[in-house]
Amino acid sequence: MTDAHAISAAVANLYNTYPFPPEPLLDEPPPGYNWRWNWVAAYNFCTGQKPANQAIRILDAGCGTGVGTEYLVHLNPHAQVVGLDLSANALGVAQERCRRSRADRVQFHHLSLYDVDQVPGEFDLINCVGVLHHLPDPIRGIQALAKKLAPGGLMHIFVYGELGRWEIRLMQQAIALLQGDQRDYPDGVRVGRELFATLPAQNRLVQRERDRWSMENQRDECFADMYVHPQEIDYTIETLFELIDASGLDFLGFSNPRVWELGRLIGKSASLVERATDLSDRQRYRLIELLDPDASTHYEFFLGRAPLPQTDWTDDGALMRAIPDRSPCIDGWDSHCLFNFDYQIVNLSNDEWMFLKMCDGNQERTVEQILVEVPLKLDQVRSLLEQQVILLTPNSTNPH
Ligand SMILES: C[S@@+](CC[C@H](N)C(=O)[O-])C[C@H]1O[C@@H](n2cnc3c(N)ncnc32)[C@H](O)[C@@H]1O
Repeated sequence: MTDAHAISAAVANLYNTYPFPPEPLLDEPPPGYNWRWNWVAAYNFCTGQKPANQAIRILDAGCGTGVGTEYLVHLNPHAQVVGLDLSANALGVAQERCRRSRADRVQFHHLSLYDVDQVPGEFDLINCVGVLHHLPDPIRGIQALAKKLAPGGLMHIFVYGELGRWEIRLMQQAIALLQGDQRDYPDGVRVGRELFATLPAQNRLVQRERDRWSMENQRDECFADMYVHPQEIDYTIETLFELIDASGLDFLGFSNPRVWELGRLIGKSASLVERATDLSDRQRYRLIELLDPDASTHYEFFLGRAPLPQTDWTDDGALMRAIPDRSPCIDGWDSHCLFNFDYQIVNLSNDEWMFLKMCDGNQERTVEQILVEVPLKLDQVRSLLEQQVILLTPNSTNPH
């Protein structure tokens, strides 16, 4: 067996022992939404407009026990979904999860990401969360996925960050040193839990576990995934963009954009802001992770394959002609106080509320036509757009 095969076998064995994530199975669709798994919201985030087509194909690459897959099916009612994974036991749970909640537009394949070319056709949305960093060769993995991305398609990726996982890496190595057989995952969990129970309370590894991770690590599946993993590659901004560049796809932005605002760190100092103005995007991201390593536990982002539009709606005429719709990712509608796609609170004025009401399910009326009945200014429409409460379809054929 080659090293790469041995690593893949060890990874499959970990997830056969501890299928991940260990979320309970429900007899109904999962609660709420994650906008990154909603094609309409994700496409709007990446391009500034609603997608023309919702009858799409979605791939959940390394789907594990199918928590994301199940959302992908329920949040995209016109899509066909494919899940694939290396672990037969994780796939068994994914299948049962989807059967119970009647997520029936889904097929599963027991396959390595490297062999994704065995699945016929291309995909409009590829979701690959928490997987590439467990591959012996993540570049080969991302390139295999990129080949399956349709023109105009989006890929959502999540990989680990080195700076925010420093204590985890130390604990992983400490557990490995104390273990006779590093492939005995339940034994690794026992050693790790005993270490945390034994080390002094003010120990740095203990503090980080207590403050940041212990809630999710109550389940052994999560503890094992974090501390007794046979294969993990962590990224910095520099190595992350080597991976992205190797994919041959376009970087469209982080899907947790508030982390990547430099202003939250140095905004109080005009002189520091001034010094940072000429940094390239990548240099700015690097500065942010250097200044806030605790937040750099992972990177989550969208890549895309051309042709993808890029609309910013600064042109008044284009905005007036566009056809607005209500975002599918809103919690609390039709109250005046609701949560937007990112679960941020939005308080609507009466006029904004009326505008949103008229957008709801709208497929014909333009912004201009709605504004005849609702006394809203264009800037207020833009503010609804920025909060992603409404989405727009451009309309070049109807100038009035
Ligand atoms: C941390 S879990 C993530 C599961 C799921 N994506 C999620 O976020 O809930 C990683 C999953 O990737 C799978 N995996 C690891 N290497 C793989 C490979 N080469 N091909 C396919 N799946 C793989 C594992 O079996 C495991 O189920």
